[in-house]
Amino acid sequence: MASTRNPFTVGQPVAPESFVGRKNLIAIAFDQIYNRSNLAIWGGPGMGKTSFLNLLTSHQVWQSEDIDPSRAVIVYLNCLEIKPFMPAKFWRRIINLIREKTKDDSVLQPIIQKLLKKPESTKEHLRYILKFLGQQNKFLVLLLDDYNATFRYHSQYTETDVETFLSECRNLAYHSLERRYLSMIVTSLRRLNEDGPRLTPEKSPWYNHYAFQQLKPFNQNEVDSLFEKIEITSELREGIEEIAGGNPALLQNAGLILHNKRRSEETISGEAFARDFVDATEHFFQDTWQLSNQLEQTLLMLIALSKLAGRVENKRYDLGDINIIFSQKERELIDLEQRGVIKRITEQEKTVYLFYSTIMEWWVIKEIENTNAEKIKQREKVFLNLMSHEQVEQVTGVIKYLSENQETVKSIVKWVGKLAMYFA
Ligand SMILES: Nc1ncnc2c1ncn2[C@@H]1O[C@H](COP(=O)(O)OP(=O)(O)OP(=O)(O)O)[C@@H](O)[C@H]1O
Ligand SMILES: [Mg+2]
Repeated sequence: MASTRNPFTVGQPVAPESFVGRKNLIAIAFDQIYNRSNLAIWGGPGMGKTSFLNLLTSHQVWQSEDIDPSRAVIVYLNCLEIKPFMPAKFWRRIINLIREKTKDDSVLQPIIQKLLKKPESTKEHLRYILKFLGQQNKFLVLLLDDYNATFRYHSQYTETDVETFLSECRNLAYHSLERRYLSMIVTSLRRLNEDGPRLTPEKSPWYNHYAFQQLKPFNQNEVDSLFEKIEITSELREGIEEIAGGNPALLQNAGLILHNKRRSEETISGEAFARDFVDATEHFFQDTWQLSNQLEQTLLMLIALSKLAGRVENKRYDLGDINIIFSQKERELIDLEQRGVIKRITEQEKTVYLFYSTIMEWWVIKEIENTNAEKIKQREKVFLNLMSHEQVEQVTGVIKYLSENQETVKSIVKWVGKLAMYFA
C-alpha cells in the first residue's frame, strides 16, 4: 500500500477511463447527439459538469454508444475563458477550434481562413461553416461549459446584448436549416430558466429548445464504484458519505486524504480527517452558500438551527415550530434537494430535512456564528416573509446566542459522528 499511486482525481476533470456512473445521462446525451438536438445540463459546484462534457469528447465512448465519431467535429469550450464575455470573441474562438479539429479537411480550411480574416466573427460565419460541414456529411457537436457565463452583462455587453446573443444561439440550433448539422450541449450551475434572462411575451424563448437534465449527487452504486479502487470498510465509507454527501468532487477529495494518510502510515482521528477535508474543500461549501439566494440561505440556516439541539449540550433556545415554514417553502426546498445540498427523509411519518454533507451543515452554523447585529437586520425582511414576528424574535435570539457563545459549536467532531467512531 505504501508505494501505490493515488487513484483519486482531484484538481482536474476525471479522465474518461476513471469516469464513474451517469449511465442514463450518457445515453440521453447520445440520443440528443444522434438526433442533432440540444441538451442543457445543470449541476452545482463539483457535481461533474466539466468531466461529463470531457467524456463526450472521447471517441471510445462514442463507439461504445454505437455512434460513429468520425463524422463529428467535437468542440469543447468553457465560456468562462472568454473574459470579459463578448459574442464576437465567442464566435471567433469556436471557429478557431473548428479549424484546429478539421486540419485535414481541404474544403473547409480555406473557407475558415477566409472567414477569420474578417474583423469581427458572427453567428452567421458559424452557420456558413455548418453548411459546408453538412455538405460533407459531417456535423458539429458544440460542448459549452459554464454557459451561464454568457449571461453576465457588463459595461460593453448590455442586458439587451445578452438577449440578442442567446437568441442567436437559439436561432442557430433551432430555426436555421443548418441546425441539422449541429448539436449543442451546455452546462450551467443552475437551471437556465432560474439564472438567465426571464421570459416575457415579447422576448425570444431562448432556452426552450433544450432537453433539460440535472447532474445529481452520486447514488449508492456510484459511490461504491468510486471507492472500489481502495480497501475500505462499509463503516468508513458511510462516514465519508456523511461528510461528503454524494458530491463527486467531495468524495474524490475524501478518498485522496484517506489514501495519503494511509500511505504515510499516520494515525488518524475523525477530527484530523475532517479538518484536512475542510482545508481541501472549503471553497465548495462557500460556493454552494454564495450560489444560494437569500431565501435559500435562510432556509439552510433554519435547517441547521433545527438540528443544533442534538449537537450542543446547552440547549438554551427554542425555535418554535419551524416545520410550518418548511411546509410553505416546498418549492425552494425541492430545489435545494435537487442541487444536492439537502435531502429529505421521513421520520415517524414526518418529513425531516437534513444536510447531504454534515460539513455543509457545520459551515452554515459557522456562517450563523458570524452573523452580527447588522447582518441580522439585513436578513430580517426575509425572516418576516417566512415567519411571524414572534418566531423571528425566537430565531434571531438563537442566532445572537450562537454568535456570542461560539465555543458551544467549536468542535467539528460533533459533525463527523460516524468518522469519529471509526477512527477512535
Ligand atoms: N462521473 C465522475 N466519476 C468520477 N469522478 C467524478 C465524476 N464527475 C466528477 N468527478 C470528480 O469531481 C471533480 C469535479 O468534477 P468537475 O470539475 O467535472 O465538476 P464541475 O461540475 O465541472 O465543477 P465546477 O462547478 O467547479 O466547474 C473531478 O475532479 C472529479 O474528481
Ligand atoms: Mg466545471
